[in-house]
Amino acid sequence: MTDSFGRIHTNLRISVTDRCNLRCFYCMPAENVRFLPRRELLSFEEITRFVECMVRRCGVEKVRLTGGEPLVRQDVHRLVQQLNAIPRLKQIGLTTNGILLAQQAEQLYNAGLRRINISLDTLDREKFRQYTRRDNLDQVLSGIKAARRIGFPFLKVNAVAIQGMTEDELVSLGHFARQSGIEVRFIEYMPLDADQNWDREKVLFTEKMIQILSDEICPLQPESSPQKNSPSQGYEFVDGKGKIGFISSVSKPFCSECNRFRLTAEGKIRNCLFSLEETDVRDLLRSECDEDLLIDRVLQCISAKKKGHEINSASFLQPERPMYSIGG
Ligand code: 5AD
Ligand code: SF4
Repeated sequence: MTDSFGRIHTNLRISVTDRCNLRCFYCMPAENVRFLPRRELLSFEEITRFVECMVRRCGVEKVRLTGGEPLVRQDVHRLVQQLNAIPRLKQIGLTTNGILLAQQAEQLYNAGLRRINISLDTLDREKFRQYTRRDNLDQVLSGIKAARRIGFPFLKVNAVAIQGMTEDELVSLGHFARQSGIEVRFIEYMPLDADQNWDREKVLFTEKMIQILSDEICPLQPESSPQKNSPSQGYEFVDGKGKIGFISSVSKPFCSECNRFRLTAEGKIRNCLFSLEETDVRDLLRSECDEDLLIDRVLQCISAKKKGHEINSASFLQPERPMYSIGG
């Protein structure tokens, strides 16, 4: 699945629901959120059918389940199990806010999941309540603990990097990375907030974060064997204790290397987080359509992928869908 710039799309992100049990200010509005009615969501069988076809015919190798919050679909482990049975699918990951993880971690592990990214912006209860508009820090920490106890080999924590907010969280999250051995990744704040309050001035940039962490904890250096095809630049503290990742979506866009496309909870294909158009495939998945038709539609969408996002240009238009309804 190659687009007009030669990028090969092997990485599919699947939103299983737009619902969420938090209201992070950089993603959702505070109230009056209109979620999709249940019948609009793809069933696990429809998602599996889609992924199976993408893997067998189109070279997809990795999928990641996202939301909203994917674990609010309580039996999402069933989907993991179905996906895990697809031959030649190399990786399945899940991105969660962790609130429901303690309850579901074991089922998810038994279904074959090994990779979990947990979104966590602060270790301070009051700040957590401020950022997410909910008081659930303890559940998130229990979720991380449960996942470690069960032995998930690939656990990461993701924090959104916002000017005037994340400066104060860097040191405690840095120490958390060093003590737990869990990589903490900082994602530059992107214009995907429902309130449309994003401003370039509000982004805390990677360079600044490296400086603060190096000054306050221990110098950081780029890791010796960087991961290929990852938007995250890996760093390690020079004393060998702790890994930190930086996703510099604004200061150093990785569009030219992008191998991702997305399936929304109601069955639309998006070729980019920031695209203004999308392609419906739910009608095809709900009818006994010819597989070639489905592939054609996906290919059409991928072919139309733009060279890159224009966050840094004056003509940038924020997509109508905020993060929770695209799937991070
Ligand atoms: N900018 C950057 N990252 C965001 N996320 C949610 N909204 C934004 C935004 N506006 C992150 C979440 C989660 C991932 C799915 O996306 O914190 O880690
Ligand atoms: Fe929910 Fe994730 Fe959005 Fe926070 S960032 S409101 S946890 S979907």
